[in-house]
Amino acid sequence: MSKNEQPSLLVVDDEPANLRVMKQILQEDYRLVFAKNGAEALRLAEQKKPDLILLDIMMPDMTGFEVCETLKKNSSTKQIPIIFVTALDDETDETLGFELGAVDYISKPVSPPRVKARVKNHLSLVQADVLRETRLQVIQRLGRASEYKDNETGMHVMRMSHYTQVLALAYGLGESMAENLLNAAPMHDIGKIGIPDSIMLKPGKLTDEEFAIMKTHPQIGAEILGGDDSELIMLAKSVALTHHEKWDGTGYPNGLKGEEIPIEGRITALADVFDALTSKRPYKDAWSVEKTMDYMREQSGRQFEPKLIELLEQSLGDILEIKAQFLD
Ligand code: C2E
Ligand code: SIN
Ligand code: SIN
Ligand code: FE
Ligand code: FE
Repeated sequence: MSKNEQPSLLVVDDEPANLRVMKQILQEDYRLVFAKNGAEALRLAEQKKPDLILLDIMMPDMTGFEVCETLKKNSSTKQIPIIFVTALDDETDETLGFELGAVDYISKPVSPPRVKARVKNHLSLVQADVLRETRLQVIQRLGRASEYKDNETGMHVMRMSHYTQVLALAYGLGESMAENLLNAAPMHDIGKIGIPDSIMLKPGKLTDEEFAIMKTHPQIGAEILGGDDSELIMLAKSVALTHHEKWDGTGYPNGLKGEEIPIEGRITALADVFDALTSKRPYKDAWSVEKTMDYMREQSGRQFEPKLIELLEQSLGDILEIKAQFLD
């Protein structure tokens, strides 16, 4: 729904008196479209794409249940939330309505504050979904942008972000955090956008001066991702800022130590380095998994949290499956 316009509602009821009541309750806050039967409701839903539908159940010809079922089968109308408005108060009817995809029930005779509250509530849920989806898309595009700069294929980001998900689950952080990390980890090197190509693409070893510039990429990344308080973007910012910190406190940019480093940074650091070592870079050849694992073990308690190295060992089967799935 557009920002400057009132949201639009389609109100469906075979009884004109009921439509008038709804009009009185809702006309101040919404643009309203009315339908007196199921066929008209289907036509208007398709044509006007309302933000929400208030649907009577008991109607001649086509019941509200049938209207709902038809709308949910049509890809252009299936996402519109439907609230049933009904005089029926039979439990099984409510169950059927929810099974058909309705988001709510309001009983008749309707209470005006209840109608207003329910409509408002469901519209804001839709808006929150749209925002979440939009943020995820922006995040994914930013991830693509940083890959162009990095001279790495998108596969590095695919692999390392899936590694972070596996490790987050193994660590016991839960499905939802693991999925957020999967979506946030691709941002870890977004700050490389601010590093000159002459440094980024240098075939050989960086000078101290060049490396000092390279080491500003976490801070640049955090600035790019700052200023938004969504959970996902805050996580991405934290990952960008802390993925080069080391468990023993010798990392950058802030020399954080142990659990001062947020868990998302500890996990991303490990996933990033595992993938960097097993991949070819402009400045290095790919290492074997064996050589990489020797290095990782040797860095337990130095560069990496010991518990994470144990979990890497235990999850190595899954990790190698991901590696095989996203080959360069
Ligand atoms: P990157 O290529 O994505 O590497 C990420 C991290 O993987 C590195 O962070 C480092 O911790 C680890 N890593 C990568 N290759 C090696 C390696 O050959 N040996 C060891 N022990 N670790 C390795 P680091 O060192 O902070 O580097 C950050 C970024 O700086 C790298 O990201 C890369 O873009 C750049 N970079 C680092 N060293 C060089 C270099 O010698 N030449 C060039 N051209 N770029 C470099
Ligand atoms: C219903 O009885 O149909 C729903 C109950 C309610 O609107 O609170
Ligand atoms: C109510 O139904 O009692 C208030 C409105 C709502 O629950 O959303
Ligand atoms: Fe980095
Ligand atoms: Fe990386």
